[in-house]
Amino acid sequence: MTENKGFLITLEGGEGGGKTTQIVRLQNRLHKAGKDIVVLREPGGTVISEQIREVVLSAKNVGISFTTEVLLFQAARAQIYREIVLPSLEAGKVVVMDRSRDSSVVYQGMVRGFGVDMIEKLNEISTKNTYPDLTFLLDISVDKGLKRREDSGSVNRIDMEATNFHTKVREAYLKLAKEDQSDRWQVIDASKTIEEVENSMWEIISKKLGI
Ligand code: TYD
Repeated sequence: MTENKGFLITLEGGEGGGKTTQIVRLQNRLHKAGKDIVVLREPGGTVISEQIREVVLSAKNVGISFTTEVLLFQAARAQIYREIVLPSLEAGKVVVMDRSRDSSVVYQGMVRGFGVDMIEKLNEISTKNTYPDLTFLLDISVDKGLKRREDSGSVNRIDMEATNFHTKVREAYLKLAKEDQSDRWQVIDASKTIEEVENSMWEIISKKLGI
């Protein structure tokens, strides 16, 4: 939990779980409820972090070394937390993020084997030891997720990994959510309709925020 006045919500999950669609809907609902909100994505969200995003996700950069990848995700995170996330939380805003620290734990730490402890040490530095107050795992089978991603037509360097990679991502997220000692994780069945997913997320958020 953060010690700030604001509230940090992160959306996590593998490919095609509909995070981006849900964030737009969530933004509308929070706005209607009169909340001061900031919506961001990782990697990205600031001019500098978006430049780092281009380097780390470009399909052209197949030659990027794994350590470079790990550190670039963290570099983008360090910038967005210092420039936007932490000041917004201090100002009492609700910050909604499409991915954050747990993406590095899962993709780099667990699936690619960099180690969870090492990633969490880096996360501690990049986020100034900030944890989300609430994390949604939008869980969907790999087949359905990849199908949705193909239909959307936007495929990045990491999406191009083999199906086996995406299966490991899904399993790692479910394990992380299950074993986490805090009560911040909420696993949502993302194969349901957009409206159903939206409603189940809103039920949880509105309770937490007392809306
Ligand atoms: P993006 O195009 O934003 O897709 P998605 O809709 O899946 O979020 O791609 C972000 C990609 O970067 C995604 O494949 C996950 C990966 N990623 C990591 O591997 N580590 C990280 O720390 C972050 C933030 C993202």
